[in-house]
Amino acid sequence: MKAAVVSSFDSAPRYQEFPAPVPADGHEMLVDVLAAGLHPRVRSQANGSHYTSTDELPLVPGIDGVGRGPDGRLRYFILPETTMGAMAEQTVIDTRRSVVLPDGADPVAVAAAMNPAMSSWVALRQRVSFEAGQDVLVLGATGNAGQMAVQIAKLFGAGQIIAAGRDLQRLAALPAFGATSTVPLGVGDSADRLGQTAAEVDVVLDYLWGEPAATAMIAVLTNRADRSKPLTWIEIGSVAGATAAIPSAALRQARLQIVGSGQGSVGTGEYLAEVHSLAEAIVAGTVTVDARAVPLADVEAAWADADAKHRVVLIP
Ligand SMILES: NC(=O)c1ccc[n+]([C@@H]2O[C@H](COP(=O)([O-])OP(=O)(O)OC[C@H]3O[C@@H](n4cnc5c(N)ncnc54)[C@H](OP(=O)(O)O)[C@@H]3O)[C@@H](O)[C@H]2O)c1
Repeated sequence: MKAAVVSSFDSAPRYQEFPAPVPADGHEMLVDVLAAGLHPRVRSQANGSHYTSTDELPLVPGIDGVGRGPDGRLRYFILPETTMGAMAEQTVIDTRRSVVLPDGADPVAVAAAMNPAMSSWVALRQRVSFEAGQDVLVLGATGNAGQMAVQIAKLFGAGQIIAAGRDLQRLAALPAFGATSTVPLGVGDSADRLGQTAAEVDVVLDYLWGEPAATAMIAVLTNRADRSKPLTWIEIGSVAGATAAIPSAALRQARLQIVGSGQGSVGTGEYLAEVHSLAEAIVAGTVTVDARAVPLADVEAAWADADAKHRVVLIP
């Protein structure tokens, strides 16, 4: 069969022949892959930089996707850590890590949205006791996951939803998705504006980390009227830096709790508990992301497309 194959962590996957996988007895199933999302997590899998990387090559990248098995049913699946990923004509799934989709579901829309949406859905459901009416800051709201975080915070009944990001065009679109205010990052008075606008939030969904997160944290905490009011800062992504210099006083002078949300801090069972309801919301069009379908044969060109305005989805 044909697949996208990584033979070196220094170069993009190539479209080439690869042995078709064989399912084991039990819960495994061979599926024809219909769509697989090219998420940042997949890029870090393919260049060996993800914290779960085992350095094993060759590998077929792709952590999730939509496929059809011999029973004829359409399924969204999440793969375990494996070198036989989703970017192939066929892959092996564990049916316990899959959800059956209605026949009319759009495989590209589902494959594009599940991963970026899961980041905030799971964070708000599993990493904090989020209640309707609480206020949320989405830090780094202009990426695909951030834009979906705005929609999901609204779906979960958030009060104020403050969206902060540096791409002004994408930022301007976020009120239509549910943001009650927007704050541009990377301009002269960003920290002041963020401090004033987001001073009283209950939860921060942080896709940036690095220097922007440290600056935003101090700005929010020092502007807080009641510093004993709990604030849960959920670290989800690190597009602005893998480390952030958090002053010790930030943790002493306010009731700040910093937690992470991702593979490891969220268990497989906790992810699977959320997959059905999230897939329903995506199929219903309640939460959306712009998707761009690209033939699997063009995987090398797809790799070069790092534009965050849409999520690339490979279709075998
Ligand atoms: N933990 C989880 O469960 C989970 C799940 C999904 C994703 N993630 C992580 O979340 C992050 C975002 O994912 P995504 O799918 O939204 O990626 P994406 O669609 O590629 O978006 C990334 C966004 O980050 C912005 N950005 C990059 N550097 C920035 C900086 N220094 N300051 C402000 N904005 C900056 C980019 O904006 P510009 O246009 O301005 O460059 C772009 O809008 C990634 O780190 C990803 O790995 C985590």
